[in-house]
Amino acid sequence: VKIGILGAGQLGRMLALAGARLGIQCACYDQSPDACAGQVAPLTVGGWMDLERLDAFAAGVDVVTYEFENVPVEAAEHVARRVPVYPPPGALRVCQDRLEEKTLFRKLGAETPAFEAVGTLDELRGALERVGLPAVVKTRRDGYDGKGQAVVRHGSEAAGVWERLGGGAGAGRTPLIVEAFVAFEREVSIIAVAGRDGSRAFYPLTENRHEGGILRVSRAPAGGGGGGGGGLQRTAEALAGRALGAMNYVGVLAIELFEVRGHLLCNEMAPRVHNSGHWTIEGSATSQFENHIRAVAGLPLGSTAMAAEGACAGMVNLIGTAPALERLCGVKGVSVHMYGKEPRAGRKIGHVSAVAASPGLLGARLAEVQGLLGA
Ligand SMILES: Nc1ncnc2c1ncn2[C@@H]1O[C@H](COP(=O)(O)OP(=O)(O)OP(=O)(O)O)[C@@H](O)[C@H]1O
Ligand SMILES: [Mg+2]
Repeated sequence: VKIGILGAGQLGRMLALAGARLGIQCACYDQSPDACAGQVAPLTVGGWMDLERLDAFAAGVDVVTYEFENVPVEAAEHVARRVPVYPPPGALRVCQDRLEEKTLFRKLGAETPAFEAVGTLDELRGALERVGLPAVVKTRRDGYDGKGQAVVRHGSEAAGVWERLGGGAGAGRTPLIVEAFVAFEREVSIIAVAGRDGSRAFYPLTENRHEGGILRVSRAPAGGGGGGGGGLQRTAEALAGRALGAMNYVGVLAIELFEVRGHLLCNEMAPRVHNSGHWTIEGSATSQFENHIRAVAGLPLGSTAMAAEGACAGMVNLIGTAPALERLCGVKGVSVHMYGKEPRAGRKIGHVSAVAASPGLLGARLAEVQGLLGA
């Protein structure tokens, strides 16, 4: 099989590397000639709605997937008329819109923060009253790394936030959603994978720390949940399983959750491999990237167990700039991943992961890396 990947960022790059190990060749498609997966796999450069270019790309592969969730659904549907596309474009559609996403979570019986879609400034004012303050106002579409959102603490901020986020209909405006601000104890994510034969697997819950809306550090297994019996894990797996079923899903799906007093509230989901699963490259028997490749290629899924029984694993993102490679590679017991991207403020340019026999040892290794970042 040859797999086509729409999007050629670091996620595409790590998918292509995982494919290569199985002898499966991947080819990427991106708007940018500099997209970093192009350094490890053939890259076709074209616009998302350049249907001829997409046709030519699809003609050279057996199956297509994506690593970028803002690929236009129409482009994915167009490609799906030529070759199978996994996850199905319908899943892409749901995951692109925070309103559809949260509506699906509710339909599946999952908890979410209170939310309301708003199309006018008056509706925003009303929604802020009903949802309560503080609240988070977000663009329904195209947000990432905390972009396109604002926390509102006073009703008087409504007009300013409306303007800043460009709320409304028509040219240059965008529909918004209001969510209750959740004073969570921590953020966790569940990464699930579904095979073409209906098989499913789930990684251990990952605990994630964000700063300024960007993921900084992940650790797994997150553990926790009533009586140490893995209650949270079971709850998250059941939820993710329902989401996979509802979307006829094939591939890796990530769901971001807020933990509050033993409850899991769904924040959002991503129809792709996810930053909070990067630790699985060294930490799991089969990484999220390999399992996505296996799923899309119609192969049996690999084990999602920790690479060593009882081990824990984690990851620190390299954002904006990175210490010299000499220094990173000098840290014992960690794995360095650089994406081949130019440093730029707020940009994810690499990550460092570690696997350890105890949470204490893991913490020490990750802290050593973070120490280099501060320096
Ligand atoms: N309702 C909320 N209450 C409290 N904090 C929130 C809420 N919504 C978002 N956040 C914080 O902002 C972060 C980014 O928000 P969210 O995941 O919705 O946006 P995003 O830009 O799509 O993120 P990414 O693409 O990086 O996952 C969350 O991980 C969380 O830390
Ligand atoms: Mg998020």
